[in-house]
Amino acid sequence: MAGLWGGRFTKNTDDEVFAFNESLSFDHRLLDNDIEGSIAHVVMLEKQHIISLEEKDAIVKGLTGIKKDVESGALDFAGEYEDVHSFVEANLIKRIGDAGKKMHTGRSRNDQVALDMKLYVREQIVLIDELIKGLQESLLKHIEDGLDTYMPGFTHMQKAQPVTVAHHLGAYMEMFIRDRGRLTDIYKRMNFSPLGSGALAGTTYSLDREYVASMLGFEGATRNSMDSVSDRDYLIELLSALSTVMMHLSRFSEEIIIWNSNEYRFVEIDDAYSTGSSIMPQKKNPDIAELVRGKTGRVYGALISILTTMKGIPLAYNKDMQEDKEMTFDAIDTVKDCIKLFDGMLKTIKFNKEVMAVSAMKGFTNATDAADYLVKKGVPFRDAHGIIGRLVLYCIDKDKAIEECSIEELRDISDVFDTDVYDAISLKTCVDKRLTKGGPSPERMKECVTFYKEYLANSERLNQMLYKRS
Ligand code: ARG
Repeated sequence: MAGLWGGRFTKNTDDEVFAFNESLSFDHRLLDNDIEGSIAHVVMLEKQHIISLEEKDAIVKGLTGIKKDVESGALDFAGEYEDVHSFVEANLIKRIGDAGKKMHTGRSRNDQVALDMKLYVREQIVLIDELIKGLQESLLKHIEDGLDTYMPGFTHMQKAQPVTVAHHLGAYMEMFIRDRGRLTDIYKRMNFSPLGSGALAGTTYSLDREYVASMLGFEGATRNSMDSVSDRDYLIELLSALSTVMMHLSRFSEEIIIWNSNEYRFVEIDDAYSTGSSIMPQKKNPDIAELVRGKTGRVYGALISILTTMKGIPLAYNKDMQEDKEMTFDAIDTVKDCIKLFDGMLKTIKFNKEVMAVSAMKGFTNATDAADYLVKKGVPFRDAHGIIGRLVLYCIDKDKAIEECSIEELRDISDVFDTDVYDAISLKTCVDKRLTKGGPSPERMKECVTFYKEYLANSERLNQMLYKRS
């Protein structure tokens, strides 16, 4: 089948070549964006007197009809069309005849596909941002609920110092705030229209590129036509931002898997978000968290794939760039599913507050505070560190916590200890007195909660930026 370029060719494309070359099987998801871009293009062509009013009206009507028929199922993507652009043009000509042949005036599929992808990615950025916002709202509920819930904080997977559930989850809130910030940055940077760049060198028609750009809600038209048709930076940036989202979700998943394990029992994943074993009746597995962790690899794969595809491409458009689509679509779908499922799991998860607090009391999480107690009594920190080290060794031998030692036992190690030590190293003091900015004390975390609420109330930025289809 010769497709759009019959004139120069004397033979039809080989069947295998056609199958290898085609992209309709995956770029059909750009149909709405393609039609939206074509409508803006022909409205501009008519304004510039390049086509007549009647022709413009016929084309717009034809395009709207194609969109409706695809939606209703009256028209499907069957047939030998190379890509979504040829599908639309061929069907338009079939419907309205000669006027349809004028739609592509002053345009190439190179600037057309660049436009379609940008329109699609812009929408997806907004959708993903909204999903992350939903996740942040679920997280905030647990943060508010966990202001006084003590738990051990870890370094090297060893109990380190006590924190609260609010403080621990607050760390993820910060990650998701940065994730959304990255999406906003990408949106702003990419929001310029490539249409009118032609195949690579613009066109001799008097196109009004700025007019098309503003119709489509872009900040303006791009500056360099060669760059416009071969720029895929915004996809690389998006996949990088999405990889970071997945890295965050994966770390969170890993923690949930550990917390949900028989040994920890810090949390209980809801039945609806767990799965059983076909052989072991006692099992309740954290499959959703494991799958989110696992799917992270495939989003990283998309990023590496497009970086590799782009690295060897000379200016301007080359067919290699068609490879930007499948992986990007897959990554976007994967990230959206992961956020949705993770959010559902998070909404229904139960924190076993009692178990967490007991765990925070074990494992000498107050050893630093015991050393600080001695420092406040005049012992140099390095000496205090040594004294508490010996005390910990003694406690391990006796199988007890520091606060379970009698004052006599403590004084055997250092006569600086007094009875006020018990209050100084209690779990409550260890957490509540960590008042430095960014610390776990409920007082500080309440300020964070106020900030997060304000942030969530004000974070409609992307949505406001989005061009709303009329
Ligand atoms: N399917 C193509 C792509 O995804 C559309 C652009 C085709 N342009 C061309 N000169 N063959 O990149």
